[in-house]
Amino acid sequence: MLYKRNPQLNKNGELIHLLSIEGLPRDVIHHILDTAGTFLSVNEREVKKVPLLRGKSVFNLFFENSTRTRTTFEIAAKRLSADVINLDIARSSTAKGESLLDTIANLSAMHADMFVVRHSESGAPYLIAQHCAPHVHVVNAGDGRHAHPTQGLLDMYTIRHYKKDFTQLTVAIVGDIVHSRVARSDIHALSILGVPEIRAVGPKTLVPGDLREMGVRVCHDLKEGLKGADVVIMLRLQNERMSGAMLPSAGEFFKSFGLTPDKLAWAAPDAIVMHPGPINRGVEIDSAVADGTQSVILPQVTFGIAVRMAVMSIIAGNEA
Ligand code: CP
Repeated sequence: MLYKRNPQLNKNGELIHLLSIEGLPRDVIHHILDTAGTFLSVNEREVKKVPLLRGKSVFNLFFENSTRTRTTFEIAAKRLSADVINLDIARSSTAKGESLLDTIANLSAMHADMFVVRHSESGAPYLIAQHCAPHVHVVNAGDGRHAHPTQGLLDMYTIRHYKKDFTQLTVAIVGDIVHSRVARSDIHALSILGVPEIRAVGPKTLVPGDLREMGVRVCHDLKEGLKGADVVIMLRLQNERMSGAMLPSAGEFFKSFGLTPDKLAWAAPDAIVMHPGPINRGVEIDSAVADGTQSVILPQVTFGIAVRMAVMSIIAGNEA
């Protein structure tokens, strides 16, 4: 029988790259979340540094825009004492036609130890991982519509922080799910961690029906989708990934699926509201909810530093 090993794990089942949450063992996810917990206190100290990546060079390669992911990866790497190089893609030789793999080969010749990669093409971080030297680690910081594993992990950290036990939860993911790598990573993580009710909520054009095969309940009515939910994850309309009109208008979308205080009342009284950002106020979420007492959108960002420190320190400590 042909056996295809998960490329992000070594033969001992240890994490050497983080490319996707799909296929990660539950204990690996818990190890990342537990390790992130130990880094939270580092981030609250006056001297916010530990020497775990001292002497290592981390290259941030963001071929797509980013505020949260890029900045928190840079902070995380610096807090682990790594040397951090942010390649300015717009001014790099990519603009002169240099291929992705030639860029990687040249940066590897500068003794890169880790690449953090965001790319519009699904699979780009896998390609890089396949072509790197065995000692080099790759972290997917978002590839096309495919995966955003560190966002998925920081979302799990946030849920565990506020709700403790995954096995009793109802989680509603609302909005543009078809274009969302965050939704895909969250659904894989929630399934692996044993969440019994995962709902994908939105209009038919934005919620793929095949999610049912992953055990997800698909709802095209917001009231049904939010009813009794413990966690509500709102998603942005990804206009940059839409080809042609998938919605009548942003105003119509807000009327049917935008989260307002009245609609949030359909969820559990102690529900938390999450969003990976960037938020579009008045499109998928009302300001009264985004800035309200149930919102944990900014704590998600803060937890992201500790989770990215955990991922980088764990993979750097494992050999291919
Ligand atoms: N959540 C997220 O990926 O945000 P950025 O695009 O700002 O990194």
